[in-house]
Amino acid sequence: MRQDGKQVLVVAREGRLFAIANRCPHEGYPLSEGTIGPECVLTCNWHNWKFELASGAALVGRDPVRTYQVAERGGEIFIDFRDPPADQRRARALRGIEAAIVDNDRARMAREAARLERAGYDAREVLVHAFRLCNIRLEGGMTQAHAAAADWLLLADRAETPIEKLAAQLEPLGHIAWDAQGAGEFPYPEGATEWDAAGFVAAVEAEDEAAAIVRIRGALVQDLPYASLRAAIGEAALAHYAAFGHCAIYTLKAGQLIEGLGEQVAEPVLLALTRMRSPEPCRHRTAAPSPGRTDPEA
Ligand code: FES
Repeated sequence: MRQDGKQVLVVAREGRLFAIANRCPHEGYPLSEGTIGPECVLTCNWHNWKFELASGAALVGRDPVRTYQVAERGGEIFIDFRDPPADQRRARALRGIEAAIVDNDRARMAREAARLERAGYDAREVLVHAFRLCNIRLEGGMTQAHAAAADWLLLADRAETPIEKLAAQLEPLGHIAWDAQGAGEFPYPEGATEWDAAGFVAAVEAEDEAAAIVRIRGALVQDLPYASLRAAIGEAALAHYAAFGHCAIYTLKAGQLIEGLGEQVAEPVLLALTRMRSPEPCRHRTAAPSPGRTDPEA
C-alpha cells in the first residue's frame, strides 16, 4: 500500500492486523518479500534482520521498523499514515545515535542522522550529542576527532549535494565514536568557581586539572561566551611548545568548532581541551582504556 511516498506493508496473522513500513530500515529492501515466522516475527530476506510486527522492534539487527496504526472496519482497512510529532522523531533518532556510538556502527549513525534531518532538524545536532556523550570516555581529553570536526564542518558547508554534506558531517561522528569506544569512564572533576583568567592559566601551567576545570565550568555557568575566554585559553596553550604545537592547534580548532556548532558544544569541547592541557596522572578510571584510541599527541 502506498501513500504520500510511504510504502506500508499490511499483514494479517494469528487473528491480528499489523502495518509496518515496507522498506527495511537496514538497506531499504522490501519487507513484503521477507518471511513471517512464529510469534509474528518478520525476517528480512536480504540480511536476516528480524522484526516484531506488533512493536517494530529489531530482534536481530539494529534499527526498529516503523509501525502504523491499522484497523479493519466493515471490510475496509484503515491506516493512520500520519508521522509522529517531530520531537518524538528527534528523540528516537538521538537514541539511535547513542546506540550506534556504543556499537561504533557508522552505517546506523548515517541512517539516524538522515532520519533527524527528515524530521526537520539539523544533522549537525548529532555531532553535538556525540561530543557530550563521548566526553567522559576521553581519558586524554580533546582528540583529533574534535580538531578535524572543525574542518569537516567547513567542508559540509561547501558541499554541493545533500549526500556530500551528510558524509562530511558523519566523518567526525564516526571518529569520536571510535576514539571513545571501550575506553572506560574518566569523569571530570565536579564543581564550578567564578571565572578567573589568571587563575585558569596558572592551573593549566601547574597541570592541575581540577582547578582548571572548575574555572572553565564557572565561565560556562556565568554564560560567558567563548570569545571572552579565548585570550586566557590561548595564553595557556602558547606558554610552551606543548605537544609540538598540538595544544595551540587544538585551541584554534576548539574555537572553530564552537563557532561552527554553537555555544551548546562549548562545555564538552572546553572540558576536553582543558583536560588535554592539564593532565593529571590518576583519574577516576572505571575501566581500562582501549588500545585503539587516538593519541592526541600523535
Ligand atoms: S535490507 Fe533488510 S536486513 Fe538488510
